[in-house]
This record gives sequence, structure tokens and C-alpha cells, in this order.
Amino acid sequence: MTGKRILVCLTGASGAIYGVKLIQTLSQRGHEVQLIVSKWGHETLSHETGLSVEDLKKYAEVVYDETDLTAGPASGSYHLDAMAIVPCSMKTLAGIANGYADNLVGRAADCALKERRPLVIVPRETPLNLIHIRNMERVTEAGAILLPASPAFWHKPENIDQLVDSIVDRIIPHLGLSRTEIEWTGDI
Ligand SMILES: Cc1cc2nc3c(=O)[nH]c(=O)nc-3n(C[C@H](O)[C@H](O)[C@H](O)COP(=O)(O)O)c2cc1C
Repeated sequence: MTGKRILVCLTGASGAIYGVKLIQTLSQRGHEVQLIVSKWGHETLSHETGLSVEDLKKYAEVVYDETDLTAGPASGSYHLDAMAIVPCSMKTLAGIANGYADNLVGRAADCALKERRPLVIVPRETPLNLIHIRNMERVTEAGAILLPASPAFWHKPENIDQLVDSIVDRIIPHLGLSRTEIEWTGDI
């Protein structure tokens, strides 16, 4: 399979590990990862995983600053195969739902939607208020795939890694890539 060019964004919601696992998996499978980590994404990444963006550079072809609206992904004509926002804060979700593209994450998502490219949004908040729900409805109507980080338990995960993998495994096919397999044991 030829590698695809995937833009992955980590924003300031809990669950940075999902984004880290996604970029590791994509890179290991020979895809070109382009990365944006928002200012609050830096905070949650470091707080939750002890990692910095510097540590993620080995998985990414390029790391953009969220303020750089001159970067390629700010243009719809820039070639990207798909985009994922993992995890996605309610603030970034609100921006996308309302076409308010004030940083590179929001602008790139705006472009993905207008160019009809796969856009996977992994929101993280609980409980949800009506504004969150309406914003989720709006991005879904606009063509995004909303994929909440709700890990499965049917495969009897033995550790957090396996829980995280169950979400990464669901994201990958929605980016237009062939999926990983979690072994179905048959006993529930
Ligand atoms: C430790 C920490 C955890 C947070 N968790 C969440 C969360 O799970 N969901 C969310 O919507 N916002 C969360 N926030 C708030 C966002 O970081 C904040 O709304 C920020 O403005 C998001 O900006 P961004 O989307 O540009 O990264 C959290 C903030 C911190 C510091």
C-alpha cells in the first residue's frame, strides 16, 4: 500500500495518548504524518503523558505551529489525504461547527470539509451540554466523522495501551486506510 499524507491535530482535551498512538501507528505503517499540537494540546500532552512535541517529531514529517496560517494545510489546494483531530476539545469543535477558523487546526478542518476530504473528530468531554451536542450535529451534517473516544471492552483489554488501541483501530478506516485488527475472541 502506498503511504497517504495524514494531518493529525492534538488539541487541549484529555486523551492526548490517543493522538500519540495514532501518529505512531500511521508512521509505522509508512504514512506521512503532518502534525499540529495546539497551545493547550502541548499542556495536556505533557501533563498526561510526560511527552513533549519534540518527542513526537520522529513520527511526523512536519510539525506546524497552530498560529501559522501561511502553512500548507491552511489552503484547500494543499494535498492531504485525510485529517484527524485527536483529541478534540469542545472549543475546537465549536470553532469548526461555526466556521470560525482562527488557528491552523480550525482552518485545516474547514478546508477538509469544503474539499470533501475525510475529517475524523475525536471529541472528549463528559457530560455534554446542548451546545456541545449541537456542534457535534453541525460538524456531522457538514461531513465530519465524529468518533467519540469510547473504548471497547469486548476484547478484554489488559492494559491502557489495549484500550487506546481499540480507539485508534476505529479511527484508521475512517481516514480511508486499511484497518488494524483486534482479535475477536468470541467470548463476551
Ligand atoms: C488538563 C486539562 C484538561 C482539559 N480537558 C478538556 C477536555 O477533556 N475537553 C475539553 O473540551 N476541554 C478540556 N480542557 C480545556 C481546553 O484545553 C480549553 O478549552 C482550550 O481552550 C482548548 O483549546 P484548543 O482546542 O485550541 O486546544 C482541558 C484543559 C486542561 C488544562
